[in-house]
Amino acid sequence: MSQPCDVVVLLSGTGSNLQALIDSTATGDSPVRISAVISNRADAYGLQRARDAGIATRTLDHKAFEGREAFDAALVELIDTFNPKLVVLAGFMRILSAGFVRHYQGRLLNIHPSLLPKYKGLHTHQRALDAGDREHGCSVHFVTEELDGGPLVVQAVIPVELHDSAQSLAHRVHAQEHRIYPMAVRWFAQGRLSLGEQGAMLDGQLLAASGHLIRN
Ligand code: GAR
Repeated sequence: MSQPCDVVVLLSGTGSNLQALIDSTATGDSPVRISAVISNRADAYGLQRARDAGIATRTLDHKAFEGREAFDAALVELIDTFNPKLVVLAGFMRILSAGFVRHYQGRLLNIHPSLLPKYKGLHTHQRALDAGDREHGCSVHFVTEELDGGPLVVQAVIPVELHDSAQSLAHRVHAQEHRIYPMAVRWFAQGRLSLGEQGAMLDGQLLAASGHLIRN
């Protein structure tokens, strides 16, 4: 097998998406190798998940820096000590500076709990309910300087049920996140997924604006 693709994961919280990635690489022949997990919060449970899996962890507290640029510059320096081919945002609840995003252009992925471009930002499940949406879901996208923008790679769509609450929706969307994020990361690691001039490319073809669509 050729060299696996080294990935650094950034997170701020629970890390269930990290867990899905860890589980997906446990097969032995995975093209993905998680070299490190970095958090801006020392108490993020995702760090424990990484330690349990024998993955290197680092904490970089944003409160110790004067401003976003200074923190992001230190974060770049830390990430690059692991020399990753791909940086994966898995619930990293920080707005990234333009410099950071440019540094990792084409090798920075994010997952977001809505069918982008709908509901950028927070409280996506409640907002989908409030709008009376019949469908909801999650998106993996390349990160650009626009918050929760950037070319879409894959979206998973679920129906909104009559009695759904924000919590029940979040639960079902999460299950889809755990399915599509490892898939997208694997595509990248296999060299099948890249960021082209016009958008996300899969197997040499420009993906549709919605990315690869999975309906449930
Ligand atoms: C996920 O639902 C992810 O989509 C969201 O944070 C959660 C992290 O969960 N990310 C964003 O909202 C980014 N804008 P996890 O820590 O259990 O993986």
